[in-house]
Amino acid sequence: PVIRREDYRPAEFLIDQADLRFELDAGQTLVEAELSLRRNPAAPRGDGDLHLDGEQLELLDLTLDGRRLPPAEYRVDEHALVVRRVPDRFRLRTRVQIHPSANTALEGLYVSGDMLCTQCEAEGFRRITYFLDRPDVMSRYRVTLVADPARYPVLLSNGNPAGTEELADGRRLARWDDPFPKPSYLFAVVAGDLALVEDRFVTASGREIPLRIFVEPGNRDKCDHAMRSLKAAMRWDETRYGREYDLDLFMIVAVSHFNMGAMENKGLNVFNDKFVLARPDTATDADFAHIEGVVAHEYFHNWTGNRITCRDWFQLSLKEGFTVYRDQEFSADQGSRGVKRIEDVRLLRSRQFPEDAGPMAHPVRPDSYIEINNFYTATVYEKGAELVRMQAGLLGPERFRKGTDLYFERFDGQAVTTDDFVACMEQAGGLDLTQFRRWYAQAGTPVLECADHYDADAGTYTLEIRQHTPATPGQADKQPLHIPFAVGLLDAQGRDLPLRLAGESAASEPTAAGVCTRMLELRAPVERFTFVGLAARPVPSLLRGFSAPVRLRYPYSDADLTFLMAHDSDGFNRWDAAQTLAQRLLLRMVEEEALSVPDSFVEAFRQALKEAPVDASADTQADPALLAEVLTLPSEGYLADQMDCVDVDGIHRARETLAATLGALLREDLLAVYERHWQPGAEAGDYDLSPAAAGRRALRNCVLGYLGQAPDAGIVALAQRQFDTANNMTDVIAALRVLLEMPVDVAGDAGERALAAFYRRWSQEQLVLDKWFALQAQSSRPDTLARVKGLMKHPQFSLANPNRVRALIGAFASGNPLRFHAEDGAGYGFLADRILELDPLNPQIAARLLHPMTRWRRYDPGRQALMQRQLERILEVDGLSSDVYEVVSRSLGKD
Ligand code: ARG
Ligand code: ZN
Repeated sequence: PVIRREDYRPAEFLIDQADLRFELDAGQTLVEAELSLRRNPAAPRGDGDLHLDGEQLELLDLTLDGRRLPPAEYRVDEHALVVRRVPDRFRLRTRVQIHPSANTALEGLYVSGDMLCTQCEAEGFRRITYFLDRPDVMSRYRVTLVADPARYPVLLSNGNPAGTEELADGRRLARWDDPFPKPSYLFAVVAGDLALVEDRFVTASGREIPLRIFVEPGNRDKCDHAMRSLKAAMRWDETRYGREYDLDLFMIVAVSHFNMGAMENKGLNVFNDKFVLARPDTATDADFAHIEGVVAHEYFHNWTGNRITCRDWFQLSLKEGFTVYRDQEFSADQGSRGVKRIEDVRLLRSRQFPEDAGPMAHPVRPDSYIEINNFYTATVYEKGAELVRMQAGLLGPERFRKGTDLYFERFDGQAVTTDDFVACMEQAGGLDLTQFRRWYAQAGTPVLECADHYDADAGTYTLEIRQHTPATPGQADKQPLHIPFAVGLLDAQGRDLPLRLAGESAASEPTAAGVCTRMLELRAPVERFTFVGLAARPVPSLLRGFSAPVRLRYPYSDADLTFLMAHDSDGFNRWDAAQTLAQRLLLRMVEEEALSVPDSFVEAFRQALKEAPVDASADTQADPALLAEVLTLPSEGYLADQMDCVDVDGIHRARETLAATLGALLREDLLAVYERHWQPGAEAGDYDLSPAAAGRRALRNCVLGYLGQAPDAGIVALAQRQFDTANNMTDVIAALRVLLEMPVDVAGDAGERALAAFYRRWSQEQLVLDKWFALQAQSSRPDTLARVKGLMKHPQFSLANPNRVRALIGAFASGNPLRFHAEDGAGYGFLADRILELDPLNPQIAARLLHPMTRWRRYDPGRQALMQRQLERILEVDGLSSDVYEVVSRSLGKD
């Protein structure tokens, strides 16, 4: 059934208190719930029956105010328990049995390795007990856990510990009490033989909070970075948002079987272990950065999500968009702000823009869904974060802080809407965000078409900006949006010009450093801005810092782009100019196979390499991490998004050709940069995790990638040396990738040998093994699909582990467009088979894997037909999950 936002009604009943008792066991767990219910004074009276959500529960016992109910007074079906004619205020006691070890969907209470854990967001709590499983019902929880201490010595739930007991039968009992009312999706239980890493944090007001990270035994030596990140996040939330931690204890548990990244359960965050565990030799710099970001994200949810939660799931971006914005800003403050912005925009463009342009397009605040799990999307998360970022930009830091203070004060303890958030920004900012609110309601990526005119006689420069948003499924007509558009103008030397708009007096011209970027506000379909006092035609730097999530069109010449790439004071736009330049060239090369790479392009790269700093402390403006970003060519997926009909092979060939050309023509310059940043002694001695050191590794490995595209025996030896001697995973994996991609006539079996060595070394480290699977799945070699099929039979492969499934099947389908989209359709058939195999086990994972096929209309007729056939084939299967059904039917336009 379709759930619609407009159908929202407040709950008829509220649950003030929930007392839960678990007798935990992997095979069968007993859950006893005693709920204090009362009629919701804010809701109209219904039929007088109480409807509780419940799935896959065996009801053993049911009493109301101490009276066991006869069958005539209640009814149970697949989704609910309905108790007839209940009083206005009463206590309901249920006893149910559930089966964690049979729970392959990993929603509700399930088994991961030797432990028991839960995942309740969005609607998993109903697989634990009968409840009003909706976020606007907030209850106080008291939890009692009973288990065999030999198997489950550690027993955890939300809130503060409230004592333990040894029972006469040898079992152990632990009590937990969470003083903060919360929705059921934030409930959590963990039981297992877990190793503990402990630290503490003293809050701004002087409370000492123990911080505990629980991991599977053997992983205690991989928690330092997560702990450091947690403490930094706690401090940052105090200083930047005035938010202090509230419970007596904060816990993180890392589990190896998890459907998504992590979960912000009150006081007891549960993580996919890939976002906790890291040691320099097992995790890459990118892994370290993700851990920092995800640990912070989940911690920040304590205020943006838990203390203030969502009224209904259409408001998901209220907590996710805001919390992503917060974690992005936190990470920016920990390392290089410019590089962080580039990474975030790259993700937005490569994942969210295509989503907005495809059959799954939906507003940041969706209007309907079949399965809420399908709406944990790049749109709700990443575009949602951009909407908060735009509001922060429109208000400026002081007023934005006033706005968030007001939000926390006004809505603490409540379940609210994205509109409530905007209203706070509006009030604190003293501005009208009526038009801005359309961003939440309207799907699709706006396109800005810019034109300009310089009037030499008047010394004026006029920018004309047209906006339009393309139609999306179910939303044919779009209205103009309120768009913050940051602009700078450069003179012929590449310096920022002071900006003054026509009509502004010279006296009001600001003089501080910020003058050179102006935040223009677009509202009408066409807007014109005239700048005065310009002695010569300037080069415009548009949408600085990516001030709005839009597609920008402006007829830059290649010379303009090269100029901006070299001079723009806005680091983001320097990078973006380089990307646009490369993208243009690559798209031309796709059209015209014989096109040779223009000298000017090679020279622009050579120039960038020449400016490469000698070391991180060298006082040049080129930060190695930023330079690595500038030198990275747009991905195949991003290029595909720019084409009307995706030419899979052409894109791959163009990218390879361009990289090989640069690798050959710039060989000496590349080698020079490589050697300057290769310091085996220092690397081995004290491996350095600082952003500066990571940036140098990024640059060196980017350079190695180019060299590997034009290989000879010397380059093979270089990659081999790095693979053999590096003491950190970043360098090992980069070298392994290069070795694997080099042609056999140059590298011989060096790649295969390295792969085998890597396996021998890491066969017992599951997260490292995932990298081993993924590397092979992403290989451009022609036999990759055969290899992936072979790896499905590997003793270490299992469909039951989402990380492993993503590492092999996900990496192939989403990370290897060349081989996945093979012309014969074999990749599509393979993926459809896997989805049908996975759907009965784990619908969420099955639905996620479908994504690369949802964009089938963007390909040539042959591939379209092949993908469509597989989608139809899936849709014909009886008993599909709502997750897979919704994605397939929407993709086929059958919704
Ligand atoms: N709230 C979690 C986060 O921090 C993600 C939960 C995802 N849930 C789901 N059913 N996909 O972002
Ligand atoms: Zn989140």
